[in-house]
Amino acid sequence: MSLLVTNIGELFTNDPGLGIVHDVAVVVEDDRIAWIGPASTAPAADSVLDADGAAVLPGFVDSHAHLIFAGDRAAEFGARMAGAAYTGGGIRTTVAATRAASDDELRRNARRLVGEALRQGTTTIEIKSGYGLSVADEERSLRVAAEIVEETTFLGAHVVPAEYADRPGDYVDLVCGDMLAAASPYAKWVDVFCERGAFDADQARAILEAGAKRGLGLRLHANQLGPGPGVRLAVELGAASADHCTHLDGADVDALASSDTVATLLPGAEFSTRSRYPDARRLLDAGATVALATDCNPGSSYTSSMPFCIALAVREMRLTPSEAVAAATVGGATALRRADLGRVSIGARADLIVLDAPSHLHLAYRPGVPLIRAVLRNGVPH
Ligand code: NIG
Ligand code: FE
Repeated sequence: MSLLVTNIGELFTNDPGLGIVHDVAVVVEDDRIAWIGPASTAPAADSVLDADGAAVLPGFVDSHAHLIFAGDRAAEFGARMAGAAYTGGGIRTTVAATRAASDDELRRNARRLVGEALRQGTTTIEIKSGYGLSVADEERSLRVAAEIVEETTFLGAHVVPAEYADRPGDYVDLVCGDMLAAASPYAKWVDVFCERGAFDADQARAILEAGAKRGLGLRLHANQLGPGPGVRLAVELGAASADHCTHLDGADVDALASSDTVATLLPGAEFSTRSRYPDARRLLDAGATVALATDCNPGSSYTSSMPFCIALAVREMRLTPSEAVAAATVGGATALRRADLGRVSIGARADLIVLDAPSHLHLAYRPGVPLIRAVLRNGVPH
């Protein structure tokens, strides 16, 4: 099956040889991009999608989301907006609700959020576990996640659950042993919340190394709530991504800039915890690769909207609109080490969004407005 997307006013390609091009068409063959060029020379196709002069972009790649959970924490958000601080302590509230939920409730909630994200232009989303924190609950969290998406991450080391509060070392051993063994068949990645109050650098290193031995790729929640060793550990271990990066010093920035580890920024978390935003400009100017993701979870960032994150990145973090869109597409793909995603180039996966707007600028210029007119995922219209 082939599809001609024509009358594209602006095509945002992320292809270094093409950049942003105007007045073009794209041909999709099955699930791949097969042709890009002037509409007048486009080959015939089985069907046509008329973009009517609008902007067309790669679908968003949301490389960081926690979608396997039950319940919400609206009251905690309300208390925060009245002055309470975010500490991550609410994670245990969600753990209790998640453990009490059936597989089907977890599945339905995750599917609801993936659908919500798709309607906002997200064609790839990563899903972490991390609200089960027992062997059985982490295993089923990842089993459900793997039914829904390709990119799944074992985050058994989210916090130490209450029943291990007085013996955290035993919990780390469980994570590295039975829990990893049960979860890893359903996971592509392993992640740790490396933060004061969660896991320290030695614990994070042990868990990441155990995950690597089982063939999992590495990612790390690093430097979210305060300065710490997370970013440098991620770089040292060759992690695909260090996520949050809110509190960085010069050595952290230099480490990221001279590595393949992507700095994944999650401005929805700073918005929802009323925290300072990461210094994205400094990272980009130093030469680091930056991704933008939602961190969608019921505690620190309950948004599935990549356009919202783009608007925050532009307004609050001083990315240009094109830098923010690149971070939300090819940046996320790089954070997942996926060369086939986040680009409009020949052979890339046909994940495209058509905006209700003539240019990508509108994603930041018209915040909060539903601008996604059409989505193609794997070449299939949604
Ligand atoms: O990425 N920081 C750790 N985990 C999540 C928040 C989890 C929660 O508050 O439920 C995050 O922000
Ligand atoms: Fe997170």
